Amino acid sequence: MKKMDSSSHLILNRTSKQEVAEGITVITRGEGVYVFDQDGKRYIDLVSGVFRPVHVGYGRKEIAQAVYDQICDLPYFCPSQFSNVPAMELAEVLAGITPGKINRFFFVCDGSEAVETAIKLARHHHEYTGEKKRNKIISRRGAYHGTTGGALRALGTVLQMRQIMEPLTPGTVFVESPYCYRCPLHLAYPGCDVACARDVARIIEFEDPGQISAFIGEPIQQGFGALAPVKEYWKIIRDMCDAYGILLIVDEVICGFGRTGKWFGIDHFDIQPDLITMAKGLSSGYVPLGGVGCTDQVMDPIEIFMHVHTYSNHPVACAAGLKNIEVMKEEELVERSDRMGRYFLEALRSLEPHAIVGEVRGTGLWAAIDFTTNKKSRASFPIDRLTRLVRRAKEKGLIVKVMGQALEFAPPLIIEEAEIDESIKILDECIRAEEEDMQL
Ligand SMILES: Cc1ncc(COP(=O)(O)O)c(C=O)c1O
Repeated sequence: MKKMDSSSHLILNRTSKQEVAEGITVITRGEGVYVFDQDGKRYIDLVSGVFRPVHVGYGRKEIAQAVYDQICDLPYFCPSQFSNVPAMELAEVLAGITPGKINRFFFVCDGSEAVETAIKLARHHHEYTGEKKRNKIISRRGAYHGTTGGALRALGTVLQMRQIMEPLTPGTVFVESPYCYRCPLHLAYPGCDVACARDVARIIEFEDPGQISAFIGEPIQQGFGALAPVKEYWKIIRDMCDAYGILLIVDEVICGFGRTGKWFGIDHFDIQPDLITMAKGLSSGYVPLGGVGCTDQVMDPIEIFMHVHTYSNHPVACAAGLKNIEVMKEEELVERSDRMGRYFLEALRSLEPHAIVGEVRGTGLWAAIDFTTNKKSRASFPIDRLTRLVRRAKEKGLIVKVMGQALEFAPPLIIEEAEIDESIKILDECIRAEEEDMQL
């Protein structure tokens, strides 16, 4: 069977020459929460395909059938001046499950394009409402919103990725992330009075409120590892956006579609976003699909949306998205994510006595262990040790990923208790081996 090594013609994402030379695992098949490599080795996939899209698990023949049927009927047609049935149906279904007044949708191929499109929609809204100077975007240090120009500018996590492309599209204003475990403002909740949110007003004033188009943030943030803000955070940001006429873009690319135990991450916080972005769980990764949703208030003033992708509102991708949501509803996977998420978090907490386990946190089936070399000072944890933990786990047949100084977990929403128990046992062994290596 074909091997992936230095002789391969394929370019991989963020994979060093040395890693390729050492040999890359080729995954050939998936079933439920398991994937299998070329040699037939079985892994529990505790991160839903590593970038976390595969909410409904592997091997869903009903999605394959929906894609096949749509290709037979109509594989493609132009998304300008023409429409197609699956895209219209998917927009209608989403209007029923997305937060509150989100009512109009545009489909693209992935999360980065969704973020680009949301930024463009916000700019269009301001163009048509006569606020042409509103062109800056507020984002949070440590966030990640994508890999392309506009989305990349709102990126703080993967510094190497940003630095190689700098200078970026101008106009991003960074504020702090609500990272309580290692507070960037060196404060502690609740005494801090949520300073990371309140401080945004000072920055808005400094930047000139009349020049700011939108604030973008994930309801629960990937950067630093499955990071939920304190309960007051989003209400403070929403009120601030209202006071200054700034649109609120909530990035649901990871949180959406049940990842956090509700249909959307922002459903935990009882506020109304103006725009949302989505991808990953929208099609469970079976085909590339992303999307933007917005309220009528955002869309109504816009006479014409000057945006075009050949593959926007793609009928085959939308057919996959429709079937994926149907499966999620039929099998009550959102409720399941909440229920199994509680079991998973409890199981992860059994690892807290380890000397290097700093904080265990999670919402629904999205969780993280933040590591430290000193529980008291919360000192940072060496990245090479985290990478080795991931490698140890992989050797034992468990796939997890590094995020900041944490290990991150986002299993398919169909995971069973026994699969969680097996994963925790492997994690326990890997952490113990690392501690032994550190002579702790
Ligand atoms: C919150 C968030 N937004 C946007 C993106 C970009 O999505 P994609 O990789 O599909 O372009 C990601 C990717 O992980 C993400 O986590």
